[in-house]
Amino acid sequence: MTEEIVKSALKKVLYPGFTKDIVTFGFVNNIVIHGHDVSFAVDITSSAPEVAQQIQDDATAELKAVGAAHVVCQINAPKMPKESSSKGKNIAPQVKNFLMVSSGKGGVGKSTTSVNIAIALAAQGKKVGLLDADIYGPNIPRMMGIADIKPEVNGNKVLPIKAYGIEVMSMGSLMEPGQSLIWRGAMIMKAIEQFLRDILWSELDVLVIDMPPGTGDAQLTLAQSVPVTAGLTVTTPQGVSLDDSRRSLDMFRKLHIPIAGIIENMSGFIAPDTGVEYDIFGKGTSTPMANEFDTKIIAEIPIEPSIRTGGDEGKPITFVNPTSESAKRYMAAAASVWATIEEINANGGVDNQAVQPTTPPGVSACSTPKPQAAPAPKSEESCGTGCGCH
Ligand SMILES: Nc1ncnc2c1ncn2[C@@H]1O[C@H](COP(=O)(O)OP(=O)(O)OP(=O)(O)O)[C@@H](O)[C@H]1O
Ligand SMILES: [Mg+2]
Repeated sequence: MTEEIVKSALKKVLYPGFTKDIVTFGFVNNIVIHGHDVSFAVDITSSAPEVAQQIQDDATAELKAVGAAHVVCQINAPKMPKESSSKGKNIAPQVKNFLMVSSGKGGVGKSTTSVNIAIALAAQGKKVGLLDADIYGPNIPRMMGIADIKPEVNGNKVLPIKAYGIEVMSMGSLMEPGQSLIWRGAMIMKAIEQFLRDILWSELDVLVIDMPPGTGDAQLTLAQSVPVTAGLTVTTPQGVSLDDSRRSLDMFRKLHIPIAGIIENMSGFIAPDTGVEYDIFGKGTSTPMANEFDTKIIAEIPIEPSIRTGGDEGKPITFVNPTSESAKRYMAAAASVWATIEEINANGGVDNQAVQPTTPPGVSACSTPKPQAAPAPKSEESCGTGCGCH
């Protein structure tokens, strides 16, 4: 038995959820060989026990196939805090981490990104929930293939719907198809709170939250209701989209939400017949913006027709075609997001105290003098200042 034989056997062991092997990832070290006995260590990025077990089983089988008698595979997993280290108001304390997916502009691919990142995180061993907080235009049920499923109600709580190994809830699952509601500020705030408090989410590692476009009541309410661990901005490469994305990144800063990165979506086009990638809107144009906000582009996702059909047919590309180029990029982006979340928790987590309404009890922030005599807001309306009243 030689080190070359050991390495080439271990090159057949794929990292669970990826198409790359553990040697190519650079995870294998400390190979020690005594005759036909082999020991080695594998540094992994996931704290999920099933990932460690699968690597151990696959590595042992591959080494035995090339003549190893006794195999010791030591797995070094990161130490994940049992609970999130975040502080402040949290109306969904069974959820350890919250990931807010935002964009300044509509239609850039937030929902598509939320679905595929959620599925990628689940494929990497995390317990994941997906909340469609886009109450005006809920698209998640269709994208997750659950448009016809109504959730079970338990007392005055609602059970999330399970699809592709994750828990899902959306206003679209609670309303009749095609129905619309006219939302006012206060109703949006209530809906977001109920999504967090009255849905029976399990003990989740992470809840991925697909936001409506822009920077409004829904974003502020979410940040005030739970400590949002990290924010992800989705943009397309055109200049006009970048202008709006700056606003989204600025909102994260104002809400004290650490930025997990930027997804540059519709970045190039992969022709389905040839697999050749073309530049259409420009690629990599978001890099200066990422630098400005001290963050990075964690994925450039091309326009790929199967991403669109996957969304329309409820068959997300990361689940149904995990070896496609886009799925691999979503997997890498999810791994990067998780690494950021672990780092944030290791450094004490987040605290949403700073974004709570500061008005003393009994005094409405709406009584703050305004430049012009504005009519008093109606009882169930927000004053529109983001003060958190009502
Ligand atoms: N990379 C991509 N390749 C092909 N189609 C895509 C890609 N990303 C998104 N799409 C398609 O573009 C449309 C808009 O995407 P999506 O609904 O995810 O955007 P959004 O930002 O959530 O929109 P809204 O602001 O309306 O909520 C969808 O039909 C989706 O399938
Ligand atoms: Mg959407």
